[in-house]
Amino acid sequence: MNREDFPILKNNLIYFDNSATTFKPQAVIDSMVDYYTNYTANAHRGDYDNSLKVDIQYEEVRTKVKDFIHAKSEREIIFTSGATDSLNRIVFGYMKTHLKSGDEVLITKAEHASNVLPWLELEKEIGIVVRYIPLENHIVTMENVEKSITEKVKVISLAQVTNVLGDVRPIQEIGKLCQKNHILLVVDGAQSVPHFPVNVEELGIDFLAFSAHKMLGPTGVGVLYGKEKLLEEMRPLEFGGGMNATFSSNGEVEYKSLPSRLEAGTPPIAEVIGMGAAIDYLEKIGMERIHQQEIELKKYFLERAKEVENLVIYNPDLENGLIAFNIDGVFSQDTAVYLNHYHICVRAGNHCAKILKEDLFVKNTCRISFYFYNTKEEVDELIRVLKNTKDLFQIVLS
Ligand code: ALA
Repeated sequence: MNREDFPILKNNLIYFDNSATTFKPQAVIDSMVDYYTNYTANAHRGDYDNSLKVDIQYEEVRTKVKDFIHAKSEREIIFTSGATDSLNRIVFGYMKTHLKSGDEVLITKAEHASNVLPWLELEKEIGIVVRYIPLENHIVTMENVEKSITEKVKVISLAQVTNVLGDVRPIQEIGKLCQKNHILLVVDGAQSVPHFPVNVEELGIDFLAFSAHKMLGPTGVGVLYGKEKLLEEMRPLEFGGGMNATFSSNGEVEYKSLPSRLEAGTPPIAEVIGMGAAIDYLEKIGMERIHQQEIELKKYFLERAKEVENLVIYNPDLENGLIAFNIDGVFSQDTAVYLNHYHICVRAGNHCAKILKEDLFVKNTCRISFYFYNTKEEVDELIRVLKNTKDLFQIVLS
């Protein structure tokens, strides 16, 4: 689908590592080159034409993001450097001043490092207690979420889609439960927002984090969504230009209102513009269509994978565009190196979800992650290569 729009696909490459980052269509690249070539200026600081044009472009992207995730207001959209930055701001900018020692935060052992480590740091800093919702066959069930809730639980923080197995969490039901129990729901949307429609209002999400580079956009920019009343109470983690209304030598300081208050310094202007072009592109295709194409590719892979001996697939029953697998008896990194010999890109290892192994009982896996521009022909080539692994170790050692 739309392969001709991606210049990098002209190279002899089969790219199945879209959960790590995605390729960029020409429209995204052009939008950034246009900014650098034709109207470079800072944002929110000038009174000349190019500067005003930048302001308009930059704020238009905020509106696009708001509409894309169905937020209520532009004031709920903060540009950050990525999902990790967004999650850190949630934990240290909001939770640090709103939680107290003994308050409990529920996560799972399948979370990405960026949704574990900030919480563990906060545990050390102020004495919150991080607890893990038990997984059932590696996935989150409502029963286990309900059982995990105590009076002390103040936050549930989950990926909407995990980056190792790709299971989709029942966020809407969890959202309702959170509302009933006065619990804040933090969602890591890094692996969901790029792949299917996400509606923060319908899902009952209080905070959402995601990155542009996993959805056709550039690296270095992401989004922090928060309900307005929560962001109003978020402490900036950075102070400086662009976020203050006035300050004087006697220490009097007045900060701007949302969203500027949480965007100190020159923002990643070209990247924000690129993210806007990526959203335009995704919307033209349609998020539902993107989702269906990925599911279709996985189904096709699973059908053809029956032809391959010794293939262990850890998530065949999950409807998504992600396959976690190993060749029986082969270290996952060796499989990735072998596939690279045939210009097939997959990720191998623990995928930054380092405590999932305690539940999966497998330390490392290979991961295929599809995006809409992947094809059945590419899957055919992968199967051909996987069927013929007799020279695997020779290739890995060469
Ligand atoms: N979190 C990204 C991945 O899963 C980098 O590959």
